[in-house]
Amino acid sequence: MGIIKCIGILTSGGDAPGMNAAIRAVTRAAIYNGLRVKGIYRGYKGLVTNEIVEFKSQNVSNIIQLGGTILKTARCKEFTTPEGRKLAYENMKAQEIDALVVIGGDGSLTGARIFAQEFDVPCIGLPGTIDNDLFGTDTTIGYDTALNTILDAVDKIRDTATSHERLFFVEVMGRDAGFLALNGAIAAGAEAAIIPEFSTEVDQLEEFIKNGFRKSKNSSIVLVAESELTGGAMHYAERVKNEYPGYDVRVTILGHLQRGGSPTAHDRILASRLGCAAVDAIMEDQRNVMIGVENNEIVYVPFSKAIKNDKPINRDLVNVLRELSI
Ligand code: F6P
Repeated sequence: MGIIKCIGILTSGGDAPGMNAAIRAVTRAAIYNGLRVKGIYRGYKGLVTNEIVEFKSQNVSNIIQLGGTILKTARCKEFTTPEGRKLAYENMKAQEIDALVVIGGDGSLTGARIFAQEFDVPCIGLPGTIDNDLFGTDTTIGYDTALNTILDAVDKIRDTATSHERLFFVEVMGRDAGFLALNGAIAAGAEAAIIPEFSTEVDQLEEFIKNGFRKSKNSSIVLVAESELTGGAMHYAERVKNEYPGYDVRVTILGHLQRGGSPTAHDRILASRLGCAAVDAIMEDQRNVMIGVENNEIVYVPFSKAIKNDKPINRDLVNVLRELSI
């Protein structure tokens, strides 16, 4: 596509705290390096419908602390069709955008990968999702904030769980990944986590009961990852009611509150680093990679690897939870 003078930036899929910090970083780093920036509204939808605005440094003032995304976000059906992507490409050309930075999760990066292949457009992905399920980066933008939100909620649930001597199943997000549930459980001092990664290995409820609920505790909190693979918190509550009727069980589904709020320092710093690195990557003529941070170093991860949906759960963490919840 020749020399790059103008970068388009969009956020797509589920919003995640820290997306604004990433938009700010890409915009400012691009301008600092003499490039123009255009903000594309509502994800790929804005590329298809030409909702595109030139961004100056002031467009991203006072947003680093805001949750959500000032560019709005959407899951776009048109972009999944060749006709929709052709329209998107034509708008991109008409707007003189030479490269795209896409901030989002696996669905968004899959879209970028297809678009880049079809039209030979340089696309750089930034991992933006609370789920932390992208391979090639230690954490994703938004994950740490969501984890802290879960922590805050579970700390509060514990007060009532202890007072009433109840067993609580708390359902957290993560789609088919258990990072929020497992690390949320460790951080909150919960008794167990039920995660999709182990759904075929053991009956996680049986293991929890066997490991001594009621031997030493009158109340308990179990974090359950939402997922068809686990069946969700309601499923486990029903099972306990049927199989262990002596237990007083309650369910809390945390839902979309996990996606909101002001990003933590970790997410703001991560987003800022990744945003600057995205502009560096474009200037180095990198294309079709996600930028990640591994062992505190910036890494370029081919889209095909990042979105393979096989980021492993660290088994040590499972043992930590098991040992500390006696
Ligand atoms: O991918 C982020 C996420 O919040 C998942 O954890 C969750 O399963 C999904 O998005 C919810 O999507 P929606 O906001 O479209 O209901």
